[in-house]
Amino acid sequence: MEFQDKIILITGAGSGIGREAATLFAAEGGKIVVSDINEEGGTETVNQIEKSGGQAHFIKTDVSKFEEVQSLTELTVEKFGRIDIAINNAGISGLPAKTPDTTLSNWENVMSVNASSVFYGMKCQIPQMLKQGGGVILNTSSIAGLRGLPNSLPYVASKHAVVGMTKTAAMEYAKKGIRINAICPVFTVTGLFKPEMMDQISAGLSEKLKQNLPMKRFAEPTEIANAMLWLCSDKASFVTGMAMPVDGGLTA
Ligand SMILES: NC(=O)c1ccc[n+]([C@@H]2O[C@H](COP(=O)([O-])OP(=O)(O)OC[C@H]3O[C@@H](n4cnc5c(N)ncnc54)[C@H](O)[C@@H]3O)[C@@H](O)[C@H]2O)c1
Repeated sequence: MEFQDKIILITGAGSGIGREAATLFAAEGGKIVVSDINEEGGTETVNQIEKSGGQAHFIKTDVSKFEEVQSLTELTVEKFGRIDIAINNAGISGLPAKTPDTTLSNWENVMSVNASSVFYGMKCQIPQMLKQGGGVILNTSSIAGLRGLPNSLPYVASKHAVVGMTKTAAMEYAKKGIRINAICPVFTVTGLFKPEMMDQISAGLSEKLKQNLPMKRFAEPTEIANAMLWLCSDKASFVTGMAMPVDGGLTA
């Protein structure tokens, strides 16, 4: 019970990596605030956790809106008194297009959901963590935060922004008991990434992507979530400002 009674806030926990992390943290005794724009997905995560004997509470939030992120923080503190761990994980892939064909609305949408949300999250979470004497923040970036990815300019820009914000905030609060890291997953089979979606873009693309990975397979959400648990645990007590690839060796 590594996270017994810890208050753990996870955005984008209504599906995929966020749901898997919520489930694993709950199994280790954490009290989870499941947040998502999708009420059905968020409620399903809460139901799954409760069925397994864990504790979770859903708060609907659109992370691209500052007022909603502020209210998510306030509601969490009202209900549970503190936020030990905040995971800014919600994200979207945007529409595939070459750079000049990328529409302004695609750019604005992806940047606000993936990047502004992380700024809004940390802007609200850090003052609360200072008040309570410390905490841990984990932001979900991507291997697209460490390297380029053709046809995905807004996504790549947003995920590089997440890495930059993580490093900056980590340096600002390292002495104040707040550790801030980013996780950089490779292709993981979730709502956001489905091999069949890749094949619709170009026949055989998913197989090509897979063959490009040293392990010749995509990640499972559990493999990403387990790394998230470690980064948020006391075992990672000297780790801050890191953008950790969980990528089966791709960035190597
Ligand atoms: N799946 C991958 O291959 C992969 C790889 C690298 C990074 N990531 C990142 O992991 C994170 C989780 O993605 P996933 O793969 O689990 O996808 P997913 O689609 O399964 O989950 C993302 C969740 O975010 C929620 N969400 C979307 N927009 C939102 C908004 N405006 N406000 C609140 N919630 C919103 C969705 O409803 C969904 O439940 C994302 O940040 C994504 O960019 C995913």
